[in-house]
Amino acid sequence: MFLFSIYLTVLIGFYRVHADSSLDEREIPLHDEAKLHKDLLHDYNVDDRPVQDYKNTVTVKLRIALKYISFDSLEETFTMHSWMALTWKDVNLKWTPSDYGGIKEIQIESHEIWTPRLALFNADASLYQSDSFYTTCLLAYDGIVTCVPSVAHTGICRTSLRRWPYDSQNCTLFFGSWMHTGEQVNFTFYQKQPVVTDDYQNGPGWRLMNVLNERLPGKYSCCPNTTYPMLKYTFVMKREAAGPAAIVVVPSIVIVILTLTSLVLDVKDNTRLLMTCFSLFGHFIFLTEIGYDIPKHSSDTPIILLFVRDSMIVTLAAIIVTLLLMSLRRRMLPPPTWIVSINRLVSNGPGKYVIFTEFDPNDTTEVKVLSEDGNSSSANEDRTRNAADWIQFANLLNSVVFITALIVYLILIISYIPRDN
Ligand SMILES: *[C@@H]1O[C@H](CO)[C@@H](O)[C@H](O)[C@H]1NC(C)=O
Ligand SMILES: *[C@@H]1O[C@H](CO)[C@@H](O)[C@H](O)[C@H]1NC(C)=O
Ligand SMILES: *[C@@H]1O[C@H](CO)[C@@H](O)[C@H](O)[C@H]1NC(C)=O
Repeated sequence: MFLFSIYLTVLIGFYRVHADSSLDEREIPLHDEAKLHKDLLHDYNVDDRPVQDYKNTVTVKLRIALKYISFDSLEETFTMHSWMALTWKDVNLKWTPSDYGGIKEIQIESHEIWTPRLALFNADASLYQSDSFYTTCLLAYDGIVTCVPSVAHTGICRTSLRRWPYDSQNCTLFFGSWMHTGEQVNFTFYQKQPVVTDDYQNGPGWRLMNVLNERLPGKYSCCPNTTYPMLKYTFVMKREAAGPAAIVVVPSIVIVILTLTSLVLDVKDNTRLLMTCFSLFGHFIFLTEIGYDIPKHSSDTPIILLFVRDSMIVTLAAIIVTLLLMSLRRRMLPPPTWIVSINRLVSNGPGKYVIFTEFDPNDTTEVKVLSEDGNSSSANEDRTRNAADWIQFANLLNSVVFITALIVYLILIISYIPRDN
């Protein structure tokens, strides 16, 4: 214990001595850069707009070097990561290079000088986004300040998802001064290359097609002497569609083919009913599956979802029709005369080429023999003949249903399947 306190005393004593000696050493003369820095910031107020007369304008030039863009179409927010080059002239930060050993440029921390506050007007307000920045700026002897902060801006972007996954979106960011008028702080673009995309990398799922920039003068009828200019950047982006197309578009065509194929199959065969039911089941699974992938809360639903919905209804109709046709085929009662006459009409007219005949050749020959030898009086033959009429009518209906389904699908595909253009 005793030893320990001696140790502590020595330590504190040593520290004191050391601190005192470092205080003495501070009398070393400043070199030119430090002297310039000290002189520039002497009596400088970071809150004062750097103008000689309050009526003068500080013109701030802006250049965006895009780095990365990410886009959340579910949340409808758009984030731009960039280096923003801001340049303006600060009349209070000038010097004569010959007074300071010929120094023409120095680095200065942005919090030590006045900086323009660049606000994003359509910002996602749920995130805290400061309109000031902290970085090291470059200052030239004529008062030109250049700051290049690396910043991310998140804005709200309304999306239109009708053509998902082949959609392209336009997202716009509006920048300007939150409180200063255009007469106090005038934001403008760099004349050369206001937007640089040399170092740009595409974000996940999106390809940047174009960036448009425009300066809105911000003249309003209320205030003829003041303007509220805004810098508008529009990003035209296209979705990388190969992945979503493989997941959604191709399978939806597969289930359509499954439903159509099942309609060609023989009604007698249980495979047809099985296949149609399987297709309906597939629709359910598929809808559940793509529900996770598709942004479905947008004001306009992706049309591919409507396609799968309608295809499901068609498949359900196919099941009902199949059951109906199965029961028709089993009928033994004499068919109504209109059915017989429709059968005659179709089998004698050009319609016979459109009708699928039975796949089982025995059935067809039976029907043919019976229709040729119509005068039989035996009750048994009568029953067979009735059955043949029903079967023929069922085949007729089946063909009509198939053609209708085909047409419905053609219309659905033309109007609902999004295409890449
Ligand atoms: C997006 O902007 C481009 C270029 O101005 C325009 O051609 C296109 O129609 C716009 N798209 C949408 C969805 O507004
Ligand atoms: C601001 O800059 C724009 C474009 O450079 C210019 O047309 C406008 O006159 C300027 N406004 C003021 C008040 O200086
Ligand atoms: C705008 O400026 C003009 C001339 O400088 C002046 O006569 C007028 O009163 C001003 N208008 C407003 C609304 O300040």
